Amino acid sequence: TRVEKAGYKHFMAKEIAEQPVVLGDAIKHYAGAGGIALPAGIDFAGLDRLTMVACGTAYYACLTAKYWFERLAGLNCEVDVASEFRYREPPLPANSVALFVSQSGETADTLAALRYAKEKVKKIVGVVNVPTSTIARESDVALPILAGIEVGVASTKAFTCQLTVLLLLALKAGLDRGQLTKAEVQGHLDDLAALPGLVNQALAREGEIAAIAAAVAEAQDVLFLGRGAMFPLALEGALKLKEISYIHAEGYASGELKHGPIALIDRAVPVVVLAPRDALFDKTVSNMQEVMARHGMVILLTDAAGAREAGEGTWKVLVLPKVADLLAPILYAIPAQLLAYHAAVAKGTDVDQPRNLAKSVTVE
Ligand code: G6P
Repeated sequence: TRVEKAGYKHFMAKEIAEQPVVLGDAIKHYAGAGGIALPAGIDFAGLDRLTMVACGTAYYACLTAKYWFERLAGLNCEVDVASEFRYREPPLPANSVALFVSQSGETADTLAALRYAKEKVKKIVGVVNVPTSTIARESDVALPILAGIEVGVASTKAFTCQLTVLLLLALKAGLDRGQLTKAEVQGHLDDLAALPGLVNQALAREGEIAAIAAAVAEAQDVLFLGRGAMFPLALEGALKLKEISYIHAEGYASGELKHGPIALIDRAVPVVVLAPRDALFDKTVSNMQEVMARHGMVILLTDAAGAREAGEGTWKVLVLPKVADLLAPILYAIPAQLLAYHAAVAKGTDVDQPRNLAKSVTVE
């Protein structure tokens, strides 16, 4: 299939904009009127562990999912980058499942990690975008994320579709393990059904985000902070920015700020704080205030309630729609992607083909 930019300046812009549609496709595919509809053979009951392995953006999707599997299913979770996992020779309990996430399904390190886990664990699950890929073929169960062809080297729609499929797996795990009732799962599925609409609303803030990005493009270093399931998104936001704008960026767990990165804060360092008004909001805000006390330039991404409570004294505030706590990492991925995209456009870099990077790394 030939994929076109369809009037967009870059594939990345097109792929960011496609998210309401492809997320809707993934949700409809895996969750119907009868609840979660995953292929037979995926059962988390009684498992001793779930191991998740991936590279790059897919790895951050796994890190996010760890919060969900633990919280929703009480399932012990290990997450690792494939290049470390494969050579560490980690022990894998026989009564466990290993899950490999890969957009391309061809990443050499992830494939090698899968082959290492084979014969050791009960089941190998692949979460892939390319259903004919090697990782899909070598998995016991392959779950397509249905993002459609992704051309931009910086992964966007594949990330949010990976998160969606992983969340559905975590909900299934919650049911299998008796940690969630059917009614609770249905409540989460109802929230999920509303997500594409919220993503549309987030996309509508593009003009505002582009203005913030134009200022960020002047910076040499940018920090991203988040707590809980927003921490992996801080890592992904930083990755996106460095990949395409070549601005040095780091993601940190908010609570780790005081253990190092706070030394970097001065008037020239934008700090993107990912803080929906959830149970950890006050903690994140107090970390944010430590940044402001040192004249860091805070860009607060939050909802209306969060902006009312903590917007004062920040450099910029971006107000996003209110979203169910579980879904915040998916929704807040949108402004993180747009921020990186517009910073890169402002700098005039090659957005779809950033220097030194490949879409799929099929050699070690
Ligand atoms: C490369 C790409 C990244 C991607 C990573 C893993 O580094 O540039 O965007 O996240 O590989 O790729 P995969 O196809 O396994 O998800």
